[in-house]
Amino acid sequence: MKTLLNIEELRYKYPDGHEALKGVSFEINQGGKIALVGANGSGKSTLLLLLAGAMEQSDGKIFFNGSEDIETRRKKTGLIFQDADDQILMPSVIEDVAFSPVAYGMKNNEAHALAMKILKSLGIEHLAFRVPHKLSGGEKRMATFAGILAADPDLLLLDEPTANLDPSARRRVINFLKETQTAFLLATHDLEMALEICNYALIMSHGLITARGALPKLFNDEKILRENNLLF
Ligand SMILES: Nc1ncnc2c1ncn2[C@@H]1O[C@H](COP(=O)(O)OP(=O)(O)O)[C@@H](O)[C@H]1O
Ligand SMILES: [Mg+2]
Repeated sequence: MKTLLNIEELRYKYPDGHEALKGVSFEINQGGKIALVGANGSGKSTLLLLLAGAMEQSDGKIFFNGSEDIETRRKKTGLIFQDADDQILMPSVIEDVAFSPVAYGMKNNEAHALAMKILKSLGIEHLAFRVPHKLSGGEKRMATFAGILAADPDLLLLDEPTANLDPSARRRVINFLKETQTAFLLATHDLEMALEICNYALIMSHGLITARGALPKLFNDEKILRENNLLF
């Protein structure tokens, strides 16, 4: 398996001095489906923002497709924010999905054709001309997936994508993640979902990876889950 992402001793200190990542190292292979679990405040969102190139690390290295270039990462990673409203920019779903292909130089009509193809592949072409902010939580979530897929990412970075979704919307997200060929790192509190779609998990606590291993084995270790505040 080829390595897609390799991070070494990653550290991040927020401007107020809070050290959110204290030396994090791991690899993701091509096609890897990795869960990132940890209590609130453990550093999951910070890690995803660094990997997406939305912020720069204070120390440590990030190699993506063998390169340390932040622009390469910005182009070829797709970050799904926890709150879909933070991610929707345009007045209709189809324009929103076409946004990044157009930004990267694709002609308008080609970008719209691509956007429609992606919406169809996700089974949400009926949402194409709807106003994104008026959609339900589950519809918005699927629309944000369409938006990041349009940029043809090599790695999806998913920040609690099923938080606040009802069971049927959660199921649609799970089915999408089961079927996708694209590698992903999935930050979640939903251990059941992680067990269903991931084959490996990283457990974070206080800015460090405190446990890691294959699933389901790792989550069968109650002591590890308890020590990391994942059970109560
Ligand atoms: N903008 C910020 N400024 C200062 N500290 C922050 C900021 N954002 C997050 N933090 C802190 O960094 C730590 C990790 O936060 P975060 O990455 O959001 O964790 P998680 O996503 O696992 O809940 C927490 O202690 C949080 O309070
Ligand atoms: Mg978070």
